[in-house]
Amino acid sequence: MSRAVQAARRAAPSATETAFAADVVAGLTAKPKHLPPKYFYDLAGSALFDRITRLPEYYPTRSEIGILQDNAPAIASLFPAGCALIEFGGGSSRKARILLGAAATVDAYVPVDISGDFLQQDAAQLRRDFPRLGVHPLVTDFTKPFELPQAVAALPRVGFFPGSTIGNFEPHEACRFLRHAGAMLGQGAVFAIGVDLVKDPKVLYRAYNDADGVTAKFNLNLLARINRELGADFNLDAFEHHAFYSSAQNRIEMHLASTRRQKVRVNGTAFDFRAGETIHTENSYKYTIESFQALARGSGWSPLQVWTDELFAVHALVNQATDDR
Ligand code: AVI
Repeated sequence: MSRAVQAARRAAPSATETAFAADVVAGLTAKPKHLPPKYFYDLAGSALFDRITRLPEYYPTRSEIGILQDNAPAIASLFPAGCALIEFGGGSSRKARILLGAAATVDAYVPVDISGDFLQQDAAQLRRDFPRLGVHPLVTDFTKPFELPQAVAALPRVGFFPGSTIGNFEPHEACRFLRHAGAMLGQGAVFAIGVDLVKDPKVLYRAYNDADGVTAKFNLNLLARINRELGADFNLDAFEHHAFYSSAQNRIEMHLASTRRQKVRVNGTAFDFRAGETIHTENSYKYTIESFQALARGSGWSPLQVWTDELFAVHALVNQATDDR
């Protein structure tokens, strides 16, 4: 390949970079301003999220791991023989390992994540720890329909979506996601989904406003990432982390609030901020067991079983859909 072609390839942004730039410009042009939470997870953001999961205030990860550990044999007993376990957003196999340890019936594991950084590293370790397991990481945006690797195409499928990431979707997006997942996993497939429960707002508030400010750093890293990758000039000292619970909508909202009137340039476009104006960066919906089961039913899935520790719930659903959606 000539030097000129090599240079042109380096200079040309990838489809992912172009989508990021387009989503940022669209989100900052919108009123009110917003940014998609899926962009939190670059290398720095993933490391910060990992710190969040270990914070004393952030109970969901500890709760879900406890539920999986206590009920792994019961959950695994729902998996068909010789199946492929498809994990949506499987940046780390920490939780899948609990199920894999209890399920001798799983032949293959397919972690699907938009960020390939951790995926390959984690897959290598998993192959060492589970030598009989086929591990087929897939780097793609799992919120959109995707093709499974050829190696697992003929296997029965089980879905796994831990972490209450489904709570970061708007309810209509969660419904669309469940329908796409149903089409891919097939009729009669089992889907294990971790969902955070509605609870005392004070507990929820603390989980997103930790004393060490890790969640604030995680939120602000989105602006740092836009600076790094899109050559923007956000002043991180002029924005602050806001997180609060809306009882009316059963959701935590995260925002980045401009502390003053200012102008920010992104990709050649200037954006004005009023003092106090916010960029809405995330919703984290909380569901009761019943409200999540109703959402699942409306999306082609039947509730099979649910395990909970009163803070968090792991739902097992079975796919009722017969058509290809
Ligand atoms: C990944 N997701 C389920 C987390 C949540 O709780 O909504 C993301 C997060 N945002 C702030 N802290 C954690």
